[in-house]
Amino acid sequence: MKKTTDVLIIGSGIAGLTLAIKTAHARPELNIILITKVNQGESNTRYAQGGVAAVWNHEKDSYQKHIEDTLDAGDGLCDEEIVRIVVEEGPTRVQEIIDWGTRFDKDEHDYNLGMEGGHSEYRILHYKDLTGFEIQRALMEKAKNSKNITVLEHFHALDLLTQHHRGYNITRVTPNIECYGAYALNKENGDIITFLAKVTIVASGGAGQIYRNTTNPIIATGDGVAMAYRANARIESMEFVQFHPTALYNPAGENPVFLVSEAVRGYGAILRDFNGNEFMHHYDDRKSLAPRDIVARAIDNEMKKSGAEHLYLDCTHLDKKGFYDHFPTIYDKCMSLGIDPMKDYIPVVPACHYSCGGIKTDEQGKTSIQYLYACGECTYTGLHGANRLASNSLLEAMVFAHRIHLDIIQNIDHIQITKDLPDWNKMGTNEPKEMVLITQSLKEVKEIMSFYVGIVRSNVRLKRAFDRLGLLYEETERLYRSSPISPQLCELRNLITISYLVTRSAAMRRESRGLHYTTDYPNQLDFIDQTIL
Ligand code: FAD
Ligand code: SIN
Repeated sequence: MKKTTDVLIIGSGIAGLTLAIKTAHARPELNIILITKVNQGESNTRYAQGGVAAVWNHEKDSYQKHIEDTLDAGDGLCDEEIVRIVVEEGPTRVQEIIDWGTRFDKDEHDYNLGMEGGHSEYRILHYKDLTGFEIQRALMEKAKNSKNITVLEHFHALDLLTQHHRGYNITRVTPNIECYGAYALNKENGDIITFLAKVTIVASGGAGQIYRNTTNPIIATGDGVAMAYRANARIESMEFVQFHPTALYNPAGENPVFLVSEAVRGYGAILRDFNGNEFMHHYDDRKSLAPRDIVARAIDNEMKKSGAEHLYLDCTHLDKKGFYDHFPTIYDKCMSLGIDPMKDYIPVVPACHYSCGGIKTDEQGKTSIQYLYACGECTYTGLHGANRLASNSLLEAMVFAHRIHLDIIQNIDHIQITKDLPDWNKMGTNEPKEMVLITQSLKEVKEIMSFYVGIVRSNVRLKRAFDRLGLLYEETERLYRSSPISPQLCELRNLITISYLVTRSAAMRRESRGLHYTTDYPNQLDFIDQTIL
């Protein structure tokens, strides 16, 4: 079955919703369909805690300082022009979501600005430790009031439509690949819809679920990047997977693991080793507030040295009322596990948190495929380089949603919908195969990535990961060809693709830089040849 629309957006996080709202308001006559694979409130955005980094207090802070902090965290690989764009345009975008109803905590006179690792000034706007939840709420409310946005929940995008689906042979070097929309599974009735659109935007978020321990919700399976890769779009810098230093250690196991925001360290909490001693001064002058790659690696090292399963975050010296006012969710979560943050050290471990790499886009959010844009965590814009500065991702999503909407409203009238695309071919598929095979393969992917492609890597480990992923790939492709489509199977397939891309990019980067550390090449190279897949 076919459905046509002017604009097709895949994903209902900050990137997808902001873009939908802006485009809808600028051009009320355009038809905008936004599909999202579960309910629209579920996204990485919803779980953001710390906040949005933006230069707000111009007396103390400056664009230049935010730019320098971002470049420093990015360890030599940021695109300086993109950094400047995001930092300078960011505050206006923040003001817009405030105007749309987003609340941020205030002091007497202005917004209360938080501190996080790698920032040289207080510049994080936040709503307690529920910033993402508040942003998601405000955006959904705003989108609901826009008549030309149709949000379709429980629609799972399967593949992007290109000339390949019209029978042409497309490879990674084919010039002028075009995107005509996407196939999506209606999870409620099993129908596969062919969405035909003038422009398509992938805003499908991260891929944290490739690891066993991740702060990302279970929707974060890298679908957008995997779809774009299959469509032969340019993907970049996938080796830079960010581990957050302080996820709550829970011996009972949880997926996702609960985050203890970096803002807690910004508020004065201190990292301690298993014996209760401070250790961060051995690694960086900024101690517990060094950039994330440094802190996560230091924790990993301390854990390996001592054999401990976790380290500690000490909040016991902090004011209880202030702590509770700022971090009520974290406080309540700890208490529910019998940890009183005001009396006990909080046990923490690093966990996969953010994909710095993704679909390569330009200053307008355009991908290497015509009529296809990408926005948010699924992209590589050049902002984060080899390591994202804390709280820069919500900002990036808003800035690029704005730029993409400008490009769309300027150019969409010259684009025709391409209609000669076949509906999904179900031929050759039989009864659903045992679900347990999918679940088992999923566990294996997570084990492979966690064990061989984690915070510290080596050639031998990467080779093992590569070989094992190869086997899983073959098995899963066979299953995919012979089974009816299920979201679980599609996600497994995408997770294997993402794992492959991360492992391959890691193997190609023969140096240690930012989030990529390998014992075989512990130093940085002078000349950087960006990884292009
Ligand atoms: P998401 O918000 O993840 O939205 C992706 C959407 O795409 C979802 O609706 C999903 O269901 C949908 N989708 C995915 N695949 C498909 C498919 N196949 N078909 C249809 N729909 C699909 N960043 C900050 O800047 N500050 C913070 O304080 C902060 N804290 C964080 C805390 C946590 C616990 C986590 C996990 C992340 C945090 N981040 C933070 C990172 C930030 O939240 C994300 O990078 C950002 O929200 C990503 O937004 P997005 O719109 O790109 O993707
Ligand atoms: C946090 O609150 O520590 C997360 C911030 C981020 O990921 O940017």
